[in-house]
Amino acid sequence: MAKRIQFSRTGGPEVLELVDVTPAEPGPGEVRVANRAIGLNFIDIYFRTGLYPAPGLPSGLGTEGAGVVDAVGEGVTHLKPGDRIAYAQGPLGAYAEQHVLPAEKVVVLPDGIDFETAAASMLKGLTVQYLLRQTHRVEAGETILFHAAAGGVGSIACQWARALGVKLIGTVSSPEKAELAKNNGAWATIDYTRENVVERVRELTDGEMVPVVYDSVGKDTWETSLDCLQKRGLMVSFGNASGPVEGVNIGILNQKGALFVTRPSLNGYADTRERFETMCHELFEMLESGKVKVDIGQRYPLDKAGEAQDALASRRTTGSTILLP
Ligand SMILES: NC(=O)c1ccc[n+]([C@@H]2O[C@H](COP(=O)([O-])OP(=O)(O)OC[C@H]3O[C@@H](n4cnc5c(N)ncnc54)[C@H](OP(=O)(O)O)[C@@H]3O)[C@@H](O)[C@H]2O)c1
Repeated sequence: MAKRIQFSRTGGPEVLELVDVTPAEPGPGEVRVANRAIGLNFIDIYFRTGLYPAPGLPSGLGTEGAGVVDAVGEGVTHLKPGDRIAYAQGPLGAYAEQHVLPAEKVVVLPDGIDFETAAASMLKGLTVQYLLRQTHRVEAGETILFHAAAGGVGSIACQWARALGVKLIGTVSSPEKAELAKNNGAWATIDYTRENVVERVRELTDGEMVPVVYDSVGKDTWETSLDCLQKRGLMVSFGNASGPVEGVNIGILNQKGALFVTRPSLNGYADTRERFETMCHELFEMLESGKVKVDIGQRYPLDKAGEAQDALASRRTTGSTILLP
């Protein structure tokens, strides 16, 4: 038997329960992984609350982890039992001691990257890869605005941006988070609980504003983010921490300066094996070179997944959070 977290109805953290299950055998093209560390992400909360519908209930939760291949299904050629691996996509169910998923979503870990680092950075780091290198390919010297700069994705983004010579302005909710973002390479921070974000961006950019805003907060920051953009700037709305952006009249993009908007996701970028491998390669290079050091701010045992999610949703975490099976 193996332990896993599942939920039979959507709701608060209390709907998560730890159950014993018989681990499934991997089918054709699948592998079974014995997880050593599991990544906690905001998207897990969206599934738990029902903002994103799970394919069926009861459902497992989580899509990110790292561990050892335990068994391989028919036709799997690039993996074998005993391989050290990591993953960030695939069916819900990573919050578990054992997880079965398509082999094409799994990558072999370089020796220099440990399980905890991988579990804390696969989903968030690949997200930063596509945001900074694909959605808008940032350039040295460019000034950008990035919300939630002391969070899991944000902490990696600050370091990656610094490595590229980009001036990242990060928003945060406390002086402690501002210091963390600065230590991670943010060029400037704005504490939105005490400062006016648009005015500070205007000051910091000598009135130029920014060519791109990376906004994972969603509803609460939508309009502020648009106001921080230069004419024809790009709004990258990639998350809903405060709730989804809804009911937008696209005329607002014209009023605020012929703006562009995109709503990207990791699955929209790492959508082929080739693209996934290229993105992993770039992330692993950043990790192995030490240009990005993953900050694991919180570790919880698997059975405390609800507590961990509650901390993430209540802004009480910094950096990445992992669950340990
Ligand atoms: N589209 C994609 O491909 C993709 C992939 C990964 C993650 N994401 C998104 O990126 C965001 C960050 O993910 P993460 O797992 O690394 O989380 P995180 O940034 O560690 O945590 C979320 C942070 O958002 C800020 N926040 C602002 N308003 C909030 C509110 N009303 N409720 C809760 N938090 C609020 C908080 O930072 P402050 O206290 O500093 O405000 C909080 O710490 C999430 O929105 C997630 O959905 C999107």
